Amino acid sequence: MRVEDIKTNVFEMFNKDWCLIAANKGNHFNMMTASWGGLGILWNRPVATIYIRPQRYTKEFVDDSDYFTISFFDQTHRDMLNVMGSKSGRDINKENYGGLHGRVQDGFVCFDEALLTVKCRKIYQDSIKPEKFLDETIGKHYPLEDYHDMYIGEIVEVIEQ
Ligand SMILES: Cc1cc2nc3c(=O)[nH]c(=O)nc-3n(C[C@H](O)[C@H](O)[C@H](O)COP(=O)(O)O)c2cc1C
Repeated sequence: MRVEDIKTNVFEMFNKDWCLIAANKGNHFNMMTASWGGLGILWNRPVATIYIRPQRYTKEFVDDSDYFTISFFDQTHRDMLNVMGSKSGRDINKENYGGLHGRVQDGFVCFDEALLTVKCRKIYQDSIKPEKFLDETIGKHYPLEDYHDMYIGEIVEVIEQ
């Protein structure tokens, strides 16, 4: 489908429904829950932006791959999203998590259960820098000084199922 045909409210998709960010290294993949991100336009292209803290195992996969996916699910997958957002793939085998069927297809990690899959090709990566904050936000979100890396990906395909 075209990005213009995404009818769900983007703010609710991220902040209320949450998503999985996923990427692969060869045949293996990892994913984590995210609620911060955005869909928009940059450099005349549809893009998705995600933010990953340095300690996330998923970051190793996103850094290793040319691509990442953002997958959205219905509410029946809330427990899964809680697990993917509280456990690390360093400690549990997320690939074989029950009820979730993920696979690597042409460099993208896709889940059979996802309602919407946004496939992205990485264009730009940078780290959030403490000295660039213009207000007090830094104090609230970075007591550990674990500043996110920001990834901007060109949306190459959106799959609704
Ligand atoms: C609702 C929710 C939203 C989250 N959003 C983000 C996010 O946007 N960026 C991030 O780095 N971590 C976020 N997390 C935390 C990661 O999902 C969590 O640390 C996860 O266990 C990392 O797994 P990994 O080590 O296998 O990558 C979120 C967690 C939850 C529950």
